[in-house]
Amino acid sequence: MKNILITGALGQIGSELTMALRKRNQTGVVVASDIRMPTDPQFRDSGPFEFLDVLDEYRVGRVVEEYRIDTIYHLGALLSAVGEKKPQVAWKINMGGLYTILEAARQYKAALFFPSSIGAFGPTTPLDNTPQDTIMRPHSMYGVTKVAGELLCNYYHDRFGVDTRGVRFPGLISYQTEPGGGTTDYAVAIFFEALKHKRFTCYLKPDTSLDMMYMPDAIRAMIQLMEADASGLKHRNAFNITAMHFTPTQLAAEIRKYIPEFAIDYDVDPIRQGIADSWPNYMDDSAARREWGWAPEYDLSGMTKAMIEGVARLVAAEMVKG
Ligand code: SER
Repeated sequence: MKNILITGALGQIGSELTMALRKRNQTGVVVASDIRMPTDPQFRDSGPFEFLDVLDEYRVGRVVEEYRIDTIYHLGALLSAVGEKKPQVAWKINMGGLYTILEAARQYKAALFFPSSIGAFGPTTPLDNTPQDTIMRPHSMYGVTKVAGELLCNYYHDRFGVDTRGVRFPGLISYQTEPGGGTTDYAVAIFFEALKHKRFTCYLKPDTSLDMMYMPDAIRAMIQLMEADASGLKHRNAFNITAMHFTPTQLAAEIRKYIPEFAIDYDVDPIRQGIADSWPNYMDDSAARREWGWAPEYDLSGMTKAMIEGVARLVAAEMVKG
């Protein structure tokens, strides 16, 4: 039986992970938590929700104890662009929150999933076919918290035996819940603008290549890694995983297969461009493939088709509501 706690459960990943785990985990409880209340009735009615600030050690401990939590997916954190605007807050939430959760995991013997990111890499990292084990000297506060987070998770595993596991996510593309304040968010916004207005102004340069993944693959990766046999894991925090990489030009061309009149122009944001330029063009994820069987299902064309269909449904529903 698994009793699972998800922090940041109303965010882009958490909202879909919560529903997926509730469908899968019929014998245990899946507790969603966040610092705001859920409004979607389907989400609200599907299982328990706790209003929980990850900096509140006492409440985190109480929730973990009350529900007999044995697995935590810790998703509450700030993303890269917003982290650059508010570096002090990013440090406090990303590191302080992880520390609180690691301590709860240690005290209550829970396993922990920690999402690291392509943001953990930096300008001195080899940016093509970025190896699993390589130079990690990020320049963004977000990246600093991701590298420090990976190290802290490894420390808790080696020193206290906490079952910490994590992946370095690329940009995640989905339509159910908006991403908030990332550098890769353009790859979501472009679909909404394409379907609503047939044009999009991109804040990254046309030839900026980044790793990306469609959300169903990301959800599968998290669950698969947490359920993998520990004896196969040589690495833990954190595995490179990717599903595709493309530039804004290439994504726009793929969207034009469905919306031929779609037009893209550029108004580059130096902060997000600087962050993107310091991130891999594409990563080598062979360690994840080897150690726990990672394999993505969606490539650029499969993801684009699914996004066009999903976003079109949302846009149509909005129009009916007026
Ligand atoms: N999607 C994240 C960001 O852009 C990267 O992990 O901040």
